[in-house]
Amino acid sequence: MNQNIDNLIGESTCFLEVIEQVSQLASINKPVLIVGERGTGKELIAARLHYLSGRWDQPFIKLNCAAINENLLESELFGHESGSFTGANKRHLGRFELANHGTLFLDELGNSSSAVQEKLLRVIEYGELERVGGNKTLKIDVRLVAATNENLPERVNKGEFRADLLDRLAFDVVTLPPLRARTSDIIILAQHFAMLMTKELDREFFAGFTESAQKALVQYSWPGNVRELKNVIERTIYKTPADVLIDEIQFDPFKSNYRLIGESNSHSSNMTSADEQFPTANKAMSTENQISPSTIIETTQFPINLKQSIYDTEVHIIQMALKHTQFNQKKCAEMLGLTYHQLRGYLKKYQLLDQK
Ligand SMILES: Nc1ncnc2c1ncn2[C@@H]1O[C@H](COP(=O)(O)OP(=O)(O)OP(=O)(O)O)[C@@H](O)[C@H]1O
Ligand SMILES: [Mg+2]
Repeated sequence: MNQNIDNLIGESTCFLEVIEQVSQLASINKPVLIVGERGTGKELIAARLHYLSGRWDQPFIKLNCAAINENLLESELFGHESGSFTGANKRHLGRFELANHGTLFLDELGNSSSAVQEKLLRVIEYGELERVGGNKTLKIDVRLVAATNENLPERVNKGEFRADLLDRLAFDVVTLPPLRARTSDIIILAQHFAMLMTKELDREFFAGFTESAQKALVQYSWPGNVRELKNVIERTIYKTPADVLIDEIQFDPFKSNYRLIGESNSHSSNMTSADEQFPTANKAMSTENQISPSTIIETTQFPINLKQSIYDTEVHIIQMALKHTQFNQKKCAEMLGLTYHQLRGYLKKYQLLDQK
């Protein structure tokens, strides 16, 4: 059996309901629309529909429609004859032809042009198409599976998507739940990805997560769903030494750059906060002086306002650097790795010019 099927992990009721629906749909030769937030597993579900169907030994062809220029999409889907447009030197087989007798998975098809939508309707209804620039009608037998994270009924209401095409595409709709709606799967998935990463790093075993790490994983809202969970776990495993129980989850690789600000190191009681941040005050910035993410204490409590936090952090760093250099802007710029003009730009932007 194909590995895509074995790799779908989850035991929550809502996830198992989806799996059950997919098993029933797989054998029916009708188009299916898969909807769900980014990273919820739409592509894996499309593969499952194919490999559980009678077409499993025929081609499973995928196309991400959003990744292709609107003009090229038509020829990518339906193929073109040589000379049909500038640059079309030889005949090109479209994805429908390549997928003949198998399944064609069209990802993010919500934004396709009306010409493409019209041709799609015809191929779904009658199994007929013409290559771009060709006049021969080809008969094809393809099962169509489409996915989107857009609200297609809303796009139909706005006149941006054909209602008759949506009706045809959505013989049945599989709606994937976001990860936050299936919290009981979070730890199972986390453990699965941790084991895979442990293997990839050639480590002997995975020590596990502490209770507080598990709590953090379950409480997080996972806007990027399973893909985000996979990334977070892989990063955490790779940053934690082998054989060590995981207590801290590295949710955000960027967050750390702003974390040290305002936090004091208990071992440096004689230093001022500015001394800690800028130990080599009068030297130009060197890499040794940069704050390393790994030295940074992670105490952020979500939710936070990211933009406001970045704003506050920048103002705070600049104010500390100004104070440290006794408001010598040239030295201050050097200390922050900025040109004098860049620093002036920040001072203006944050209205810090008149501060002393
Ligand atoms: N139930 C699951 N079990 C194991 N891995 C999963 C599961 N769901 C998703 N994944 C993994 O999460 C990642 C994202 O999955 P996938 O690409 O199928 O999502 P998607 O909904 O198509 O995302 P997008 O909307 O961004 O295209 C992949 O690495 C996939 O293997
Ligand atoms: Mg996808």
